[in-house]
Amino acid sequence: MDRIAIRNARVLTLQGRGVRRGAAMRELGVIERGFVACEGGRVSRVGSGEPEGGWDRVIDAGGRVCMPALVDAHAHLCWGGDRWAEWEQIRAGVPYPQILAAGGGILSTVRATRAASREELAEGVTQRLRAMASLGIGATDAKSGYGLEHESEARMLRAIGDAAADSPLLVRRTFLGGHAIPPDDARWPERLAREVVPAIAREFPDVAVDAFCERSALSVDDCRAILHAGRAAGLAGRLHTDQFTSMGGTEMAIAEGARTVDHLEAATPETIRAVGGSGTIAVILPCSGYALDGRYAPGRALVDAGAALAIGSNANPGSAPTVDLRMAMHLAVRHAGLLCAEAIVAATANAAHAIGAADEVGMLAPGMRANLIVLEDRDERSLVHAFGGPPPRVVVLGGRVLQG
Ligand code: NIG
Repeated sequence: MDRIAIRNARVLTLQGRGVRRGAAMRELGVIERGFVACEGGRVSRVGSGEPEGGWDRVIDAGGRVCMPALVDAHAHLCWGGDRWAEWEQIRAGVPYPQILAAGGGILSTVRATRAASREELAEGVTQRLRAMASLGIGATDAKSGYGLEHESEARMLRAIGDAAADSPLLVRRTFLGGHAIPPDDARWPERLAREVVPAIAREFPDVAVDAFCERSALSVDDCRAILHAGRAAGLAGRLHTDQFTSMGGTEMAIAEGARTVDHLEAATPETIRAVGGSGTIAVILPCSGYALDGRYAPGRALVDAGAALAIGSNANPGSAPTVDLRMAMHLAVRHAGLLCAEAIVAATANAAHAIGAADEVGMLAPGMRANLIVLEDRDERSLVHAFGGPPPRVVVLGGRVLQG
């Protein structure tokens, strides 16, 4: 079915130029009683009134909201094993950084991931992508980071590629080799910057490069060297920073020209000002505050400081065991002070910039990938207000109607 039209909809186009900040973070580009036409997997027209022409299928939205499918700005998605026992430890009061420092947490997932085959890893990614599609997520970040040695990291990136090739979602990979220091290789950060990042860039020239700047993970100097090596190899930089400890990682990432700084729960007023005055996107991840310790990034202060803000699910087996980006949007409003419209921009147009896919997804305009959802309601605030469902009434990804 190649030619599809959605009619009689409250269309949120999300059209706009560049990454959104300030008042532009509240502009949804609303067309009342409009339509979206899709041909050959792409949006061909968006407008008010009726779509003219012959269509293989016309979906009457009945005045409901039609908007771009969501974009997950930060997700891990590829791992082996589970962390259920550790969650019980966290619930009993053991802090997450302490579990990591004792060789658990990320490092326990590293052991299970190293033992998994490429096929097993790809199968896990496929299941998570399927769940995301059913929630109306049409594009996502997908990180490596549980291999922490060259071959296992490359295997993760290949597995993500395998799963993505069979998925209707647009997947952008991130090389997170600097997620932690493995106990069997104290010189891993140094080797990453010197050899591994350039080698990964040769095999996977489309990835972004990322690291975890934290007392129990990598130092600011380690992360600087990794981002620097990525930049020299032509890779966009991202950084997990200011999650538990304010150590200057965010300021360093901005100076290194990183595309995003992610987490920011521990950001100080000075750090918020630095992000606000920069071209680097702030990615907030409220599901880990919900799952771990009730700490949330200062979303309101970041937007008010002029930051371009995006939201990610942070899907991973430890700090955010969910692929539900809608839950992250809800928490961003409930606990990080965003308005509903800002949460929608942060999980569509701005998230598309965060994953380096703004020319493909995040808004409804001619030429963009035909990734759209129709909500059950006629007011988009319902998407952010309700948590745990309902799923979208209609999901179209890459021009294919998956739901509805
Ligand atoms: O973004 N903080 C570091 N990395 C992930 C958690 C990964 C894990 O716990 O397995 C995060 O929260």
